[in-house]
Amino acid sequence: MSFPVTTLEPGTFTPAELEGETDRLFRALMSVDCEPGRRWDYAACRRIAPLTLEINRLKREQNAVILAHSYVEPEIIYGVGDFKGDSYFLSLKARESKADKIVFAGVVFMAETAKILSPHATVVVPDRGSGCSLADSITGADVRRLKGLYPDAAVVCYINSTAEVKAESDVCVTSGNVYDIIAQLPQSRILFVPDRLMADNVRAELKRRGVGKEIIASDGTCIVHDRFTAADVAAARAKFPGLRVVAHPECTAEVAAVADYVGSTGGMMKYVKNTPAPYFLMLTECGLVGRLQVEDPEKRFIGGCRLCPYMKLNSLEKVRQALATPRPDQIVTLDDDLRRRAAHAIERMFELTPKP
Ligand code: 13P
Ligand code: SF4
Repeated sequence: MSFPVTTLEPGTFTPAELEGETDRLFRALMSVDCEPGRRWDYAACRRIAPLTLEINRLKREQNAVILAHSYVEPEIIYGVGDFKGDSYFLSLKARESKADKIVFAGVVFMAETAKILSPHATVVVPDRGSGCSLADSITGADVRRLKGLYPDAAVVCYINSTAEVKAESDVCVTSGNVYDIIAQLPQSRILFVPDRLMADNVRAELKRRGVGKEIIASDGTCIVHDRFTAADVAAARAKFPGLRVVAHPECTAEVAAVADYVGSTGGMMKYVKNTPAPYFLMLTECGLVGRLQVEDPEKRFIGGCRLCPYMKLNSLEKVRQALATPRPDQIVTLDDDLRRRAAHAIERMFELTPKP
């Protein structure tokens, strides 16, 4: 991580506004590492204050909101984000939103989901290159071919998929509701796309629950989560007695089997906040550790998390530019028929998600 450089002219904001904003940023970010071995300090917060003030002003002027996934940089989440969280939470917020514009600081499939659920808003992405190895692993045409091979199967897509893939699916799921939704489906055969490793975790969890389903999976993996190994976990446990291991269901089933908790990024945060333990190993993207450093600064993390190169394409500079003067490639557009079909799979997800 590195400090963003502001290009604003000095003097755009008053000294009092800049001081107030710097204080606000410093209070939020002071417990976060901004680079290995370096924490956000007052001077670093002062450097980005003109940028966060400008973005927050643009939001007010344009009736815009910023939805920020927990994996993006903490200066985006806490500096300018209106809603922060996991894919499920952010899709609910997009659906409820009355904003004219939504900036999605995350990856493109998440912004597409926001457009599907909030079609009247202009949805923009800071960087069109923010793909996802899962979403990019399968096309709508691939799903149609698979449906031809397994016509009796329910088609379940993980939310990390394109609008085209969602449009071909019976129901969408997230890491937080995947087991509960699949368990409720009447079909005994499930075609699950695009995460092969999550499919392994679904098989294991449904077996544990005594639910008999045949899960057929496509071959995508997350390039962040597929690298963690059970040997890493064993080595960390030997070095840090009392360690709690917290994993995302995009990890392999071998890793999930040796973790203390497996769940969505939102679930992982809740688990850490509610668990007294000397150390935690987070088998996920490092942004989640940044969020916990802000919201639960007493907790100790032993490293091990990894960076998602797509999420890290987001920056405050790009957020400002996308709000102020979005290029056509930054504006999410969807064919209306495709959007309606994709919305159907997501609305079915909301219906089948157990209410807390
Ligand atoms: P969550 O829905 O758990 O936030 O996961 C999104 C994601 O991309 C994980 O890699
Ligand atoms: Fe996609 Fe993995 Fe990045 Fe999540 S962490 S956005 S699944 S590549």
